Amino acid sequence: MWRIEQALERIVGVSPAFIRLPYRNYNNLVREVAKQRNQSVIMWDLNTGDSLGAGVAQSEKVYAVAKNPRNILALNHETYSGTTETIVSYAIKLLQRKGYRLVTVAECPGGLAPYQWTAPPQTSDPSWTC
Ligand SMILES: *[C@@H]1O[C@H](CO)[C@@H](O)[C@H](O)[C@H]1NC(C)=O
Repeated sequence: MWRIEQALERIVGVSPAFIRLPYRNYNNLVREVAKQRNQSVIMWDLNTGDSLGAGVAQSEKVYAVAKNPRNILALNHETYSGTTETIVSYAIKLLQRKGYRLVTVAECPGGLAPYQWTAPPQTSDPSWTC
């Protein structure tokens, strides 16, 4: 968690207020650490399956048949070049047509701040490693 925060702070200049836990895996220790880091845990409820190999058509079908009555928090990855653009633009049009109001994660629980703080991005130096 700290390394991702460090990368976001250095490269983008933001300290995230939310964390999406990989694979939805967590326990009380993870929740406690997120709390200590002042981050709210978020979970998706619609998985396009792209991380498991679903292509554009399969991912779009997940949106098309979604039965989420009020909210959708979708999980997408950029598994192939351009998939995000293609699928997200399809999903935006589809969900707006179905009457969903599109908001950021931070707006959803009632208007929280998306970041704990922001600062100018830093300049890369040789100490930055992956
Ligand atoms: C979390 O917030 C508290 C209270 O503002 C602050 O003292 C603490 O340093 C913050 N923790 C992190 C990891 O930023």
